Amino acid sequence: SEISMKPFPVEEPIIIAHRGASAYTPEHTILAYEAAKEAAATYIEIDLQMTKDGVLVAMHDEKVDRTTDGTGFVKEYTLDELKQLNAGKWFNQTFPDLANKQFESLEVPTLEEIFLYFGDEVNYYIEMKSPGIYNAMEEKLLALLKQYNLIQVNEGLPRVIIESFNEDSLTKVYQLEPRLTLIKLYSFNEEEAALSVQEYNRLRSYASGIGVNLNSVTTDFIQEVQQNGLQIHLYTIENEVEMKKALNLKSNGIFINNPDLGIRIKDEF
Ligand code: G3P
Ligand code: CA
Repeated sequence: SEISMKPFPVEEPIIIAHRGASAYTPEHTILAYEAAKEAAATYIEIDLQMTKDGVLVAMHDEKVDRTTDGTGFVKEYTLDELKQLNAGKWFNQTFPDLANKQFESLEVPTLEEIFLYFGDEVNYYIEMKSPGIYNAMEEKLLALLKQYNLIQVNEGLPRVIIESFNEDSLTKVYQLEPRLTLIKLYSFNEEEAALSVQEYNRLRSYASGIGVNLNSVTTDFIQEVQQNGLQIHLYTIENEVEMKKALNLKSNGIFINNPDLGIRIKDEF
């Protein structure tokens, strides 16, 4: 049934490896997701952009500049061209203390390559990053999820969660495939997270929950969201202090750059 496709744990928060294990490996590379899997993160987080020839790829920014040795917009690159870029050298240059020779041979993975590589060995938390600048990102994503049989439940959790700041994009996915678990993202000012009754009602019509920046929330807000029948996941935890804060807030999920740290602290908590 529709309900049983959207199960969530209630007792402890899911640990979402933000951009893979991005604290110590180059974000959005197979190695970063591999490290997240090693750490036993509940989900690997994948931000999506799209190439000129319509291929979904894992990258946070609309431009390749920050996380590769190239320049310009992803949408101006064909997949062949994008594959020429190096996706790990920047990390060694930016974080010399964490540099690793292995990182020098990394490329930008396509979403399909990620599915082929990990199959049903991980759960996927996928962000439609800039759906407004791409054509049919939602349809392409759904086609891949179906092709790789990923619209399923894994040990009581959704195999795939889809997140976006873009509500139109999420409602489009909902209309195309109502069984999927959707998370609407928000970014609020410090301690100013708030939603109206109308917003809660609208959210419940398509989403399972929301993703919100840690510094914006209060305990009262977290409880209000949960009492309104929605999950709340907090981004982005960078250290032990923030991890403890997120655990004390009793959210349902935690986006963290260092999933090893997150799981250790959660287990000790
Ligand atoms: O998706 C939640 C969080 O990842 C949003 O921040 O910019 O890292 O995608 P960003
Ligand atoms: Ca993200």
